[in-house]
Amino acid sequence: MIHYKSKEEIELIRESSLLVADTLAMIAAAIKPGMTTLHLDALAEQFILDHKALPSFKGYHDYPFATCISVNDAVVHGFPNKREMKDGDIISVDVGAFKNGFHGDSAYTFGIGNISDEIKKLLRITKESLYRGIDKAVHGGRVGDIGNAIQQFTEKENGYGVVRDLVGHGLGRNLHEDPQVPNYGKRGSGAKLKEGMVIAIEPMINMGTKDIYHAEDGWTILTQDGQPAAHYEHSICIQKGKADILSSFVDIEKAEKANQYLVADY
Ligand code: MF3
Ligand code: CO
Repeated sequence: MIHYKSKEEIELIRESSLLVADTLAMIAAAIKPGMTTLHLDALAEQFILDHKALPSFKGYHDYPFATCISVNDAVVHGFPNKREMKDGDIISVDVGAFKNGFHGDSAYTFGIGNISDEIKKLLRITKESLYRGIDKAVHGGRVGDIGNAIQQFTEKENGYGVVRDLVGHGLGRNLHEDPQVPNYGKRGSGAKLKEGMVIAIEPMINMGTKDIYHAEDGWTILTQDGQPAAHYEHSICIQKGKADILSSFVDIEKAEKANQYLVADY
């Protein structure tokens, strides 16, 4: 069942989503080679708690951390761990915050130090695919229009693999609500997009094959061929004409540019 949100509820989801954005911007400022992803997770958790919110992921189906941090060939749902980040890594950080009864959910992929032109392109195309999906997320459209735009751009035009096993989702009082929002599909198919629907759009794009496998930890999703994957996510609200993006990359991108260890020109 799809829960349509009132104006007041949308503002509360915006508050949670902007807290997620602030958390990711704080991460963007802190991240550097030699640091562990477990340390990033601790920073994010403390930041969320300091802002009178709870990390949405911790305890969700027994997920043990505040964030998902997925490095290189890890697509999503990576466990923060004691491995030190190093030059050439790409680090996808996915954060959720629960405040005033509502969740916000957003993710961003950072490139550390010298990353290859090939991987820079993967980041650029994946981020742009998110906005191409958002362009289709308008009142009167269909859920399939969003996935179709993402798939067309990433798979057909750029030869990447769109992960099929995981999808975007509605969100609100629950982290995952109806409808599912695949990053692939047919135009004109799926649920109708209507004003007041709040969804997370989150392309998970593999440089090589779309196929994935589950790590032994039961959570981490990895690319089958070991090639890297990128992941960007916004929480948005459907309106007439143009979606209202509730999360934001503005401060993340500022911090990314200011951080000497991160690539910002991709
Ligand atoms: N943003 C992720 C998603 O929507 C949330 C991770 S699931 C969790 O799939 F279990 F880690 F919380
Ligand atoms: Co999500």
